[in-house]
Amino acid sequence: MKALVSYYSATGNTKKIAEAIFEAIHIEKELQPVEEVKNFSGYDIIFYGFPVNAHSVPGKAARFISGLPAGQKIAFFSTHGSLRGGQLPKQAFEHALGLAAKLKVLGNFGCRGKVDPKIIDALSKSPEHKTWAEEAMGAIDHPNKNDLADAKTFAREMLAKLS
Ligand SMILES: Cc1cc2nc3c(=O)[nH]c(=O)nc-3n(C[C@H](O)[C@H](O)[C@H](O)COP(=O)(O)O)c2cc1C
Repeated sequence: MKALVSYYSATGNTKKIAEAIFEAIHIEKELQPVEEVKNFSGYDIIFYGFPVNAHSVPGKAARFISGLPAGQKIAFFSTHGSLRGGQLPKQAFEHALGLAAKLKVLGNFGCRGKVDPKIIDALSKSPEHKTWAEEAMGAIDHPNKNDLADAKTFAREMLAKLS
């Protein structure tokens, strides 16, 4: 049994979750940022993570998901500024599901991740985005210890689905 943990992370939040997931895996495993993945065959499971961008999946992540072989078992994880369980991160997961139509999606994990202050500043000035910017400020101390522990639990649950 072999697992790949891969991710795209612009500011390091999703990378932290990827590392927690990687730590929790007790089968043969590799951890690679999406830019370094050369081969995606031969994995019993791929954990793939991305930051939610504009309620969706960033282009780099979308290209990776679309390029995976049919039938590949995949577990998604993402980080986002919005509250956990909110509508925007849900939309991003639904987008990922659409891209993964030919894959076997085993599950999805999401938690909050600190938002680049430049983005919050810019959005605070726009009436349309002000509420979101205020909500996103609350993500400042994420991912935190609990998020990392939850990500590990998620990893174990996904692995249990393989047997
Ligand atoms: C350009 C941009 C767009 C974003 N759009 C959203 C969004 O629609 N919803 C959300 O909850 N967070 C959004 N965020 C916040 C990121 O998803 C969050 O900070 C994430 O943890 C960043 O992960 P990373 O450090 O792995 O890049 C956005 C961030 C950036 C930079």
